[in-house]
Amino acid sequence: MHFELTEEQLQVQQAARDFAQHELLPGVIERDELQKFPAEQIKKLGDLGFLGMMVDPKYGGAGLDTVSYVLAMEEISKVDASASVVMSVNNSLVCWGLETFGNEEQKQKYLVPLAKGEIIGAFCLSEPEAGSDATSQRTTAIDMGDHYLLNGTKNWITNGSSASVYLVMAQTDVAKGHRGINCLIVEKGMPGFSIGPKENKLGIRGSDTHSLMFTDVKVPKENRIGEDGFGFKFAMKTLTGGRIGIAAQALGIASGAFELALKYSKERKAFGKEISHHQAIQFKLADMATEIEAARLLCLKAAWLKDQGADYAQASSIAKLFASKVAMDTTVEAVQVHGGYGYVKEFHVERLMRDAKITQIYEGTSEIQKIVIARGLLQ
Ligand code: CAA
Repeated sequence: MHFELTEEQLQVQQAARDFAQHELLPGVIERDELQKFPAEQIKKLGDLGFLGMMVDPKYGGAGLDTVSYVLAMEEISKVDASASVVMSVNNSLVCWGLETFGNEEQKQKYLVPLAKGEIIGAFCLSEPEAGSDATSQRTTAIDMGDHYLLNGTKNWITNGSSASVYLVMAQTDVAKGHRGINCLIVEKGMPGFSIGPKENKLGIRGSDTHSLMFTDVKVPKENRIGEDGFGFKFAMKTLTGGRIGIAAQALGIASGAFELALKYSKERKAFGKEISHHQAIQFKLADMATEIEAARLLCLKAAWLKDQGADYAQASSIAKLFASKVAMDTTVEAVQVHGGYGYVKEFHVERLMRDAKITQIYEGTSEIQKIVIARGLLQ
């Protein structure tokens, strides 16, 4: 076992750090306030290869490993979690799903522009009545011979209005339960596909989260991913990798808040000295650093297992469960270290605290991660 990053991994980390500081930091407070999607910044992230990081270069990707992806996600999330969720969904859910399970035509048509960052994608599983209980899909995809007729509503869709390509889970054969679900590639603009208003969220306010409505949308048969009935397994396998991305996002939110708290504690004076000289603050900093280090190791272990081709389902849920709790705890403490200044927008930590909460909710709540972990233990 060794803990050293390769030269290439360090370069990716540095490139992501530079991008976050120079391209994302300016304007991040305003984008949060105005709920403004970071369109320009996402375009640049795509140009640099951060939207198709793990995709084979023959499909327009950067051909990097999952460890590099975790390192980049941490750096981007330190500064702007609204941008990093776009990056996470595009890389882990959309590109990975298409590259791993799509056929050659689907890869050429959809994966190549997604991996190059020319377009972005969305992953559509959740519904008004199917969140954690993902097998209870109400959206239907009726087999009409050469196409499916898609009807239903999806909720909480990240990249809801900015995506061009949507991977939509829908029930084709109710009698077969989860084995009757298919994943269909739906394009923006297909007749009958409409997008609801943007959700006004607590955190990650720059990202665009929408409901999607499908009314008699004709989706060609060739847009189904995998065999008939593979959709639920497709969603589960894809989310398993996605949870590594969200764990890394949570890690980044935590480490971003910690770095700000550390810096502030060395500048701010109270009772005649910098507050970093007070044990009350030192204990907080030590706890934060320890928990962040543990979260980082869990994220990197899950990524490493995936890169080795080993089973990483348990590890990704453990990483997400732990890192998201660390994100929540650390950001609350970072606000506390800042005192009153932590409660206003200019100091960034209140935003990170709001952003942290979603990491305990999306791509499976903390309770879902515990179910996955417990099932693994009891197998
Ligand atoms: N990999 C492969 N197959 C899996 C799997 C995995 N990780 N997990 C389950 N399966 C398979 C099972 O083997 C089973 O198949 P068989 O019947 O053929 O054996 C099938 O899927 C059904 O599994 P379960 O019986 O375990 O299903 P369940 O109803 O008990 O629930 C669950 C499983 C883990 C709770 C699942 O429903 C789940 O993960 N729910 C959370 C959904 C979620 O994460 N939603 C997030 C939305 S996407 C999002 O947030 C993206 C975004 O925009 C940011």
